[in-house]
Amino acid sequence: AEDNDGTVKQQIAKLFETSLRITIPDEPSLEPLVVKCTGKFGDYQCNNAMSCWAKVKGKKTEFKGPPSIGQAIANNLPESEMIESCSIAGPGFVNVVLPNKWIAKSIQKMLEKGIGIWAPRLRVSRAVVDFSSPNIAKEMHVGHLRSTIIGDTIARMLEYSNVEVLRRNHVGDWGTQFGMLIEYMFEKFPDWENAGEQAIGDLQAFYKASKLKFDADPVFKEKAQQAVVLLQGGNEKYRKAWSTICEISRREFHQVYERLGVSLEEKGESFYNPYIPKVLEGLTNQGLIVESEGARVIVIEGKQIPLIVVKSDGGYNYASTDLTALWYRLNEEKAEWIIYVTDVGQKLHFDMFFTAAKLAGWLPADENLYPKTSHVDFGLVLGDDKKRFRTRSSEVVRLVDLLDEAKTRCKAELVERGKSLEWTAEELEQNAEAIGYGAVKYADLKNNRSTNYTFSFDQMLNDKGNTAVYLQYAHARICSIIRKSGKDIEELKKTGTIVLGHAEERTLGLHLQFAEVVEEACMNLLPNVLCEYLYNLSEHFTRFYSECKVVGSPEETSRLLLCEATAVVMRQCFHLLGIVPVYKI
Ligand code: ARG
Repeated sequence: AEDNDGTVKQQIAKLFETSLRITIPDEPSLEPLVVKCTGKFGDYQCNNAMSCWAKVKGKKTEFKGPPSIGQAIANNLPESEMIESCSIAGPGFVNVVLPNKWIAKSIQKMLEKGIGIWAPRLRVSRAVVDFSSPNIAKEMHVGHLRSTIIGDTIARMLEYSNVEVLRRNHVGDWGTQFGMLIEYMFEKFPDWENAGEQAIGDLQAFYKASKLKFDADPVFKEKAQQAVVLLQGGNEKYRKAWSTICEISRREFHQVYERLGVSLEEKGESFYNPYIPKVLEGLTNQGLIVESEGARVIVIEGKQIPLIVVKSDGGYNYASTDLTALWYRLNEEKAEWIIYVTDVGQKLHFDMFFTAAKLAGWLPADENLYPKTSHVDFGLVLGDDKKRFRTRSSEVVRLVDLLDEAKTRCKAELVERGKSLEWTAEELEQNAEAIGYGAVKYADLKNNRSTNYTFSFDQMLNDKGNTAVYLQYAHARICSIIRKSGKDIEELKKTGTIVLGHAEERTLGLHLQFAEVVEEACMNLLPNVLCEYLYNLSEHFTRFYSECKVVGSPEETSRLLLCEATAVVMRQCFHLLGIVPVYKI
């Protein structure tokens, strides 16, 4: 983990940091501002000159303006094999060109040591990602699917960056709805202890039926309310009934996670329940919790309503649980960054309890640049009709069915293309899954998450355009170029050398440095930038391949290695997006 060098950008930034210390010794905390060049003047550029000028202007200084600071920054760069040449542009931008040799060497080192050596270095070493988090006995809907897909990718990107990630499924397993569910189970299935799970079957239908009874029958309602008290008081029979019901939901959630290849550790709302009184006591002692209309609340300045932490009936709620979970994650789990993935509809909730945590001094008051908590919000999933995504019978969509349909459609397409003759039944099955599930994920991830996105099988399964199917084809084609060369690529990795002679080779070679995109995607919690990168990579490869003959050319070895490196980077991007790559289509 430690023997990675960081991204190219991070390495270049280090050089500029050294230069800045020499150039502006009075400002030892100046951070180098290094970005990739968009123009043709260089590969990376340092943008510090202007802000440095603002700092030294008016003082006694040898500098005449930003360009002269830029020149000094360039002159003070340490000797490095990463710098071919350096130039100043406009108001003091320092442009750096990397040597082709260095780019080639970096790629070769990656091929030899594995993609891990390119991992970005992040400031945190342990993070919680709270994602998926459906509610027991209620439907797991497309919103939860988005949370699962986006959260998993964020976790994967952090994990690649050597962050220890606690993947938390904050399932809603502790609401008052359990009273009625348990009583209804006792009534309908007296033999629940032996046959409960099988008997209940469809939990959502069971939920609906018990709710109907709850609303219609006051005696039942009374009983259900008593049941909540018994359950929360730890009554053994009620606890057992509760866990029976949770288990049914859990099994259904698991079917979705299994298909998606997502791993999660369940720490549901019930887990934090025993810690709530102490946490609230602490906040009360700090004077943060006050009485209001029978409830106990935290007043948040600038908000119309306060954050209720104890309801007027004395019960705890979503907010008291989340405050306590945050306390637990900060103090018990020592997480440095806590990331919550839910739809944008919950924004106010997160704003409110993050602010409460700041008032309590759990979080620094000002944390704009490197926050300790982040709410990763996302928009709605829409159907073709631009309305909330539903099935034709306007029922909610069962996620398992949705994923199965993606696979079925892919399988039909592959059979159509004659693959059932080429492949074993198992290969057909596996590839249909990889392509189908991958398509669903990519279609979600490629959009900026804040926007609503339209779910369309036809669009996501198209093999042209920016889709996972297209990218799977692009990757498989590269694998086939290597296979058809008849060369042993592992052998070439040991004996061959990459030379970036042609302009397209250089462009592709430099573009292979994907890790800074991962860094950006992590910092801004935006998986779509990785998708955009991946799509551009496939286009760069296409240009390279149309300009540069690979098999049978004098440059064959070098170019095959470049093909391999492209395939490796594509696979790593697939991996980070939770997509299983296909090697032949
Ligand atoms: N169970 C919630 C829902 O379905 C999501 C929980 C998100 N996590 C959290 N710590 N609040 O809307």
